Amino acid sequence: MKIPVRDGTLLSADLYRPETADPVPVLVRRTPYGKSGSPGGASVDGLRLVRAGYALLVQDVRGRFASGGAFEPYWNEAADGADTVAWAVGRPWCDGSAGLFGRSYEAMAALLAAAERPPGLGAVVPHVAGSGFDEGWTRQGGAFQLGFVLYWVLYDLLLDGAGLEGADLAEVAGSVDRIDELYRDPEAASELLDRLAPYWRQWREHPGGHPYWRRAAPRDAYAGIDVPALHLTGWYDIFLAGALENYRGIRECGTDSRLVVGPWSHCVTGGIFPQRRYGLAADEDRLDVTGLHLDHFDRHLRGRGGAPEPEPVRLFVTGADTWRAFPDWPVPGTGELLLHLDGRRLTPGPAPVAAGADRLRHDPADPVPTTGGATALPGQFTGGDCGPLDQREVERRADVLCFTGEPLAAPLTVVGDTVLTVYVTPDAAGADVTGKLVDVHPGGRAELLCDGIRRLGPAAGADGPAAPGGPVEVTVRLGAVGHVFRAGHRVRVEVASSNAPRFDVHPPVLAHHTVHHGGGHPSRLLLPRLAGG
Ligand code: BEZ
Repeated sequence: MKIPVRDGTLLSADLYRPETADPVPVLVRRTPYGKSGSPGGASVDGLRLVRAGYALLVQDVRGRFASGGAFEPYWNEAADGADTVAWAVGRPWCDGSAGLFGRSYEAMAALLAAAERPPGLGAVVPHVAGSGFDEGWTRQGGAFQLGFVLYWVLYDLLLDGAGLEGADLAEVAGSVDRIDELYRDPEAASELLDRLAPYWRQWREHPGGHPYWRRAAPRDAYAGIDVPALHLTGWYDIFLAGALENYRGIRECGTDSRLVVGPWSHCVTGGIFPQRRYGLAADEDRLDVTGLHLDHFDRHLRGRGGAPEPEPVRLFVTGADTWRAFPDWPVPGTGELLLHLDGRRLTPGPAPVAAGADRLRHDPADPVPTTGGATALPGQFTGGDCGPLDQREVERRADVLCFTGEPLAAPLTVVGDTVLTVYVTPDAAGADVTGKLVDVHPGGRAELLCDGIRRLGPAAGADGPAAPGGPVEVTVRLGAVGHVFRAGHRVRVEVASSNAPRFDVHPPVLAHHTVHHGGGHPSRLLLPRLAGG
């Protein structure tokens, strides 16, 4: 069927209806990836939603597959999504109520549409959604997320829905095949992308925080979202920070907001990574993600299903490898544990009196290779380069500084946002400062928990700290964890100046930075420790 939206564009959708003549609530999923795939998307059993009594409307977004108009990622999803919901609730087969759900792109599109307050909308379930299109999507800490964005743009052009054929399609396929080369020299893709995906250049050229991004930013629209939201995400999901921000921002505006965080990356959702198994309970299917959608929609669209879980936040605590419920995020009752960089150690207690410094050589021709983390890179379905990978190989490099604590006498439970504050004298050409939080197992395995980056100098955009030549205090948001460091394990933080191809390499010339610790420059790691955890 074709659904008209306000500018007359016709958006194509498939409708699945339960076997009843009675009007029912409708659940809407809007996708850039083709409505003809699995109706519920990768994580949800769409036909189970229909068997449970919902109509399911799956729509190709503007400019994709069978829908009219031109695809401009996210630009039209608020209005198109709202118009689609308004159209659906006006059909005779609908009882006038609607829910929005989806995964990844679809999820942020759902939030943008929800903020328009379409009539009849009663609930939303954003699964692995970001909170904006600059920080957390195209950028992080001022660095461009080259690995993800180039992959997403190229692979997306390969889909039938992009409408390419002949020489253009062959050229895109060739670029996908040599994506590692393009990661080293993204400009080599610019002629192709200027022609086929003009948004690529706009994303490269607009720094984070620029008004350009406001057109599609859930984080600027929380006050408009007045329907209960259930957020699902993973500790290693590329959009984790955004999903946490969405949970919190919507709740702070007074709307019911609930959160589930599993040990998942963007596409590895079974709880099994190549080097790490979290157990059966970690499997998205075992948790019954479809059932979570149904509970949420039943409660808010049909008034069924009893009282919700008393605690709205459910986290899979890694290390303990169990699910735990909490009253909120940030989790109340955490205290700050400060560990100072001290020589090559990480020490509790007061900042070390003795000053120390390490020189970091930055060679753009040989950047620190991405080794796991919250990435979305080619191969993301296999877990080959995402999640809790062992860091020992990168840690052997001279341009990776490791600071390691003593073996823990008792378990240490850390739940919340972790932050590295580090004093750096950047090279005049500019600098990136990267940090990783690592759990070192007694056998030596160095398991990555989370990581971050901060770009210094004008290249970081309006909010980037300047690089004046002396030591500057740099805040690197390493990200959120819910983790137990077990007794005998050690806490480690790594400091380096690149993580490629995940982030574009900066500066593009040979550079030398100095990392200071102790004395007047108390570089430190902040961990939110859960008392009695
Ligand atoms: C997305 O839909 O936004 C997405 C797809 C694949 C990887 C990462 C993100």
